[in-house]
Amino acid sequence: MPTETALITGASSGIGEELARLFAQDRSNLVLVARSREKLEQLAAELRVKHGIGVEVLTGDLADGATPQAIFGELAAKGQRLTCWSTMLGSVQWVRSMTCPFRNRWT
Ligand SMILES: NC(=O)c1ccc[n+]([C@@H]2O[C@H](COP(=O)([O-])OP(=O)(O)OC[C@H]3O[C@@H](n4cnc5c(N)ncnc54)[C@H](OP(=O)(O)O)[C@@H]3O)[C@@H](O)[C@H]2O)c1
Repeated sequence: MPTETALITGASSGIGEELARLFAQDRSNLVLVARSREKLEQLAAELRVKHGIGVEVLTGDLADGATPQAIFGELAAKGQRLTCWSTMLGSVQWVRSMTCPFRNRWT
């Protein structure tokens, strides 16, 4: 099982979904965030089987200012440590930076 875990918002479509696929290809565990649970669960199931990684799905509306704290609270309660995050939701500026071992590939 990989030791890195990347959180990706906007992972149910577009750039976020593609980033999720690329991180999975590099064998990072994932936490996928968006509002559409069904799409995220489908992607998670595919990536678990294809890459043997752990994928957690968390849904929430990031336009709601309380959502980020709720997400991090849920991850902390599970003892989930993030090594990287990437936001594919330009209108919500809750996490702007990206620091992770894969950085050179994506920036
Ligand atoms: N595509 C481009 O060429 C391009 C160029 C420059 C900048 N951008 C910016 O990059 C970002 C992603 O672009 P994209 O083309 O990948 O967009 P997209 O295909 O529309 O994907 C947006 C993602 O964000 C999620 N999302 C939207 N509103 C949300 C909310 N309130 N709470 C939680 N999740 C939400 C969507 O899932 P749910 O609907 O399931 O929540 C979806 O997963 C956007 O901010 C866009 O402005 C895109």
